[in-house]
Amino acid sequence: MKKIIIVGLGQMGLVYLKNLLTLGYQESEIVGIDIDSAKTKTIKEQFPGITVLNHLGEQINVSPYADDAYEAVFASVFAGEGISTAIVCTNTPSHHRVIADLADNGVKHIFCEKPLGMNIEAANIIRDAIARTGTKVYAAFLINFSPVLADLTELMKNENLILTEGHVVWGKNRFGNNRPTPGDLEDESVHGVGVLHMLAGINQTIQGINVSGRLTFSKYVDEVVQAKAQALDPTFPAADAVNSSSMIIEQVVTDRCECLTFGIHSSYIMGVQRREVGVLLCSADDPRKPVYYAGMEFDIRTADGKISDRLTLTKIENNSVEVTEKACNKIMEETRAFLAVADGQAKDPRSTDFAEALMAVRFSDSVLRSHMNGGDVVEVYNMTDAKPLLKVA
Ligand SMILES: NC(=O)c1ccc[n+]([C@@H]2O[C@H](COP(=O)([O-])OP(=O)(O)OC[C@H]3O[C@@H](n4cnc5c(N)ncnc54)[C@H](O)[C@@H]3O)[C@@H](O)[C@H]2O)c1
Repeated sequence: MKKIIIVGLGQMGLVYLKNLLTLGYQESEIVGIDIDSAKTKTIKEQFPGITVLNHLGEQINVSPYADDAYEAVFASVFAGEGISTAIVCTNTPSHHRVIADLADNGVKHIFCEKPLGMNIEAANIIRDAIARTGTKVYAAFLINFSPVLADLTELMKNENLILTEGHVVWGKNRFGNNRPTPGDLEDESVHGVGVLHMLAGINQTIQGINVSGRLTFSKYVDEVVQAKAQALDPTFPAADAVNSSSMIIEQVVTDRCECLTFGIHSSYIMGVQRREVGVLLCSADDPRKPVYYAGMEFDIRTADGKISDRLTLTKIENNSVEVTEKACNKIMEETRAFLAVADGQAKDPRSTDFAEALMAVRFSDSVLRSHMNGGDVVEVYNMTDAKPLLKVA
């Protein structure tokens, strides 16, 4: 197999490392890079066969914020090897810099943890880099790989249904978690919103999106961990600037409906983990005719200890209920899909490419602006400015 780079060896980096080994990679084919020498040391102890590099340590000895950081990485270890594939799972504030550096140094296929960046400026840096180099960037929106979402998509297509309203309750309790965070809005809220946007693109075309949002800033971040992340990466937000919860109303205009309405509550201080999306599905021929209410719960632990997704489908006219539960490993599926496209195979329709991932950045950027203006309605997207969002699972 071709060599592959993983940048960021924290929680998600370890998940991808194990996935690569499960999918047939040898340790000798994996290069791991991290800014934190404690992380590289732990990984090297666990996986002695992989090449591990620490930016600030002896192996590279150049700050990741220097212009030539990745040139130094490539010169020191990849000289002549032409490594073309990378997985980026650094913390969100650094995604754009890492992606741009990898692209400028010849990496042609990059899979980046969601979201692509903290704001539109970060996304534009990625856009410019990949326009220069022809690099293909995919973002890891793993919920797209849910089997119950695929079932719902098929039902909507078969029965000619459209989504007309929806809600998201998404969160967990990250109080005192030992990982730094840029905030709930940027890192967490985008999951459920991504599901709504995807379903809103079935049997109708999104023409415009507006949001109104408010954020809260409760204390939940481990200040020591956050300060360390900030010392290693000066662009990391300080603990008291990190949002904890997002309350958002979203309005979507489509070619079929004047206003789809969504309510989103996402939080890093939700007492228990909840990953729920509910949608009302109406007839595409008569959008005022409700047909089903579909409730989805993701990553629930079932009685036999497996992780499953559940779809509860209620027929509105007679209240009959059908429940489907499917065990799944969505991260493994999305890793497999990325490796396939990097190997020259067709893009898996569930994968999220740069243009599609941009919507999540536009969304969180707009919600932040709305919050800063007292909850004013802010435009996220307008079809006259950009290509239509047409995403199907
Ligand atoms: N898809 C999901 O369900 C999911 C779940 C958790 C996290 N995430 C995303 O994954 C990303 C990483 O999250 P995590 O939980 O693994 O965080 P983490 O803090 O556990 O790991 C991030 C690692 O990146 C390293 N790092 C930071 N800047 C770097 C740089 N410039 N170069 C090299 N290394 C750098 C840190 O030292 C750390 O080891 C985030 O963007 C987050 O939003 C996604």
